[in-house]
Amino acid sequence: MAKQQIVRAATRALAWPSVTVPTTRAHLHATQRYVSSTPGRRSKDDSFHESSSATLGKPGFDHEGSSARTDHTIEVKYPESTGEFPPEPKVQGRGGPHLKRTLAQFSLEGRVAVVTGGARGLGLVMAQSLVASGADVAIVDLNKEEAENSARALVDQFKKDNPDSKSADRATSSQENVSRTPKVTAYHCDVSNPDAVESTIKSIVSEHGKIDHLVTSAGFTENYDAISYPYERMKKLWGVNVDGTYLFATGVAKHLMERKCTTGSMVFIGSMSGSIVNVPQPQAPYNAAKAAVRHLAASMAVEWAHANIRVNCISPGYMLTALTRKILDENPELNKTWTSLIPMGKMGRPEDLMGPVTFLLSDASLYVTGADLRVDGGYTCT
Ligand SMILES: NC(=O)c1ccc[n+]([C@@H]2O[C@H](COP(=O)([O-])OP(=O)(O)OC[C@H]3O[C@@H](n4cnc5c(N)ncnc54)[C@H](O)[C@@H]3O)[C@@H](O)[C@H]2O)c1
Repeated sequence: MAKQQIVRAATRALAWPSVTVPTTRAHLHATQRYVSSTPGRRSKDDSFHESSSATLGKPGFDHEGSSARTDHTIEVKYPESTGEFPPEPKVQGRGGPHLKRTLAQFSLEGRVAVVTGGARGLGLVMAQSLVASGADVAIVDLNKEEAENSARALVDQFKKDNPDSKSADRATSSQENVSRTPKVTAYHCDVSNPDAVESTIKSIVSEHGKIDHLVTSAGFTENYDAISYPYERMKKLWGVNVDGTYLFATGVAKHLMERKCTTGSMVFIGSMSGSIVNVPQPQAPYNAAKAAVRHLAASMAVEWAHANIRVNCISPGYMLTALTRKILDENPELNKTWTSLIPMGKMGRPEDLMGPVTFLLSDASLYVTGADLRVDGGYTCT
């Protein structure tokens, strides 16, 4: 009410700037009340005030404010072992042959990109967009077997889309081949382990000759209310999402600086949860971790700008991966609540990240650094 009154008063003031200034005490009082932002005293007869100020204050109950609160009864645990993951759909022909014209700056021909968490989910689809754009890709994941299968599937799909492409290893051959089959490799690594990260970066450089780009997609979320969150799980969550991003980014930045590379760039995968608080599922540590990822991107962008290293963040909204599909199949109500909160009225597809990640890594975004690109169907606008 108070807000509407302020807007009305402001509109009147703008529309009639020459309105007579009230001189009597009664007039003055009325005008002051008109623009006051202090809530008025509660009136017994005001039914609107009654319904808009009443609350039971208990999370998870059907009452005023319930659509904007967390529900402590929702608990979702990230799979402990690879056997618990739902099967990932096969790599599909999303990239297509390079027949449609676009700006040459979008091409990643001749570049080597590392994608952490690239064995499945969003990381795998983003890796596919880099391969389709001409980059060689190193997939880094905790799940070695799935990473190897995905690496093979990416190359097979590229060959299907580009039947005349030829294998030519960039690390060992100087052949400038326009239609070259990208090289895709797989590495086992826990991104939260500094020694493992260091040795993985060394292996990638020795197999690919260099690294130009990094996408940090290794990460996960879990749902427990903050008080019940198991402390060890919380440390693990921050270790993978935050430390993992930090360790890979600093390792790759060091390599780019040693090479004096002028076109190095990185994309950190944050989440809209780094800017808003999701409802109804409680996930305080994840939200805080993704806020850290977003601000790491901005901080490193400033720190490494002198070395021509660009760092940006992509903050996806709700995306339909195999894992989110499984969670929603088991919780249909959650599906309804989530989509009702998205202005575009639907969840994102993993391939909706293909364009954004290619743009931010490529020379098409040479003056973009420290940005957070939200890919969320408008969720964070409301
Ligand atoms: N799916 C969504 O709706 C959504 C929305 C916003 C942000 N995100 C973020 O996107 C990223 C990818 O999510 P996803 O939905 O594809 O998840 P996913 O679980 O499908 O894939 C994550 C991959 O990371 C790997 N991984 C996990 N821990 C690792 C570790 N310690 N070291 C190396 N690899 C590890 C997993 O093995 C898996 O292959 C995450 O950072 C996630 O927080 C996802």
